[in-house]
Amino acid sequence: MSVTPAAVDATFFRVPLALLEPGELLPCDIWLPRRDADPVRWRDARLPFDEEHRARLEASGVRSVLIAFSDADAWNRHLEQRIGRIARRDDIDIDARATVLVASARTIVREVLEDPAAREAKRRIDTLAGALAEFTREPGGFAAVVRLFEHDYYTYTHSVHVAVYATALAAATGTEDPATLRAIARAAAMHDAGKVCVPSEVLNRRGPLDERDWELIRAHPAEGRRLLEQAGWSDPLLLETVELHHERMDGSGYPHGLSGEDIPHVSRIVMIADAYDAMTSDRAYKKALPGVRALEILRRDECARYDQELVTRFIRTLYDPREIAVRRR
Ligand SMILES: [Fe+2]
Ligand SMILES: [Fe+2]
Repeated sequence: MSVTPAAVDATFFRVPLALLEPGELLPCDIWLPRRDADPVRWRDARLPFDEEHRARLEASGVRSVLIAFSDADAWNRHLEQRIGRIARRDDIDIDARATVLVASARTIVREVLEDPAAREAKRRIDTLAGALAEFTREPGGFAAVVRLFEHDYYTYTHSVHVAVYATALAAATGTEDPATLRAIARAAAMHDAGKVCVPSEVLNRRGPLDERDWELIRAHPAEGRRLLEQAGWSDPLLLETVELHHERMDGSGYPHGLSGEDIPHVSRIVMIADAYDAMTSDRAYKKALPGVRALEILRRDECARYDQELVTRFIRTLYDPREIAVRRR
């Protein structure tokens, strides 16, 4: 009996053959699609995969293999450990690499924000930041990643988006040193670490927030810093960015009401990336704005809460003809 393509799609996801690297053990069962028939299990988890296997599949025209959704965790863990290398593999289509990167980024950021004290948390964020910093600098990399962004707002998806926008903006303002870009990606990915201290009913409230709700929200930058310090995070740039990403150039921000030059460069970058992503995402209490509209708000902001030179750079980055990254809707 054969299954319909829709039934196959509900059970399996497709991955490029190139993502199976010779010389490794397979992390999960690998299936092959068949025309007008059920997929067939080609090889079991934990068996070696070598050059000969790859060549044989390629010779029979196989370009992608199937993995069951029930094995997605094992597959994603496998990819996460190779994320830096995969991001650099220019023999793999850029959209396929972006898909791997964004899927790994979501898992890593969600799990680290849930438990920043976990043993591997800092290493995982650092690995991800390195891959993101490198990939967003590759021609077409930024656009390929942004195309995969969803409008649904969760703190972890938002954090991934902010990391990507902030890294691209930093690169556009002349930051070339890979270690610095990586540090910015790390800081941006963790900027909302303090949101775990704000109850989700406050974050998603449809009606107006009362004074007590605002207090909780306004506490999240300082809470984030405290929480990360307690969990053993010590990177000064990261802690500073977590604490200062809601300051505003005109002094109207929180928690300290800093203004102008007193706000560090990276915090100014992250505040633009943060505001842009928040405006272009659906929330319980508002629909997403189109990207162009959000940029107008950042730009037309009369009291200049955002660094206008950086806003100009950000607009150029999003509209760069080589990087048409403005969200299509
Ligand atoms: Fe925030
Ligand atoms: Fe944020």
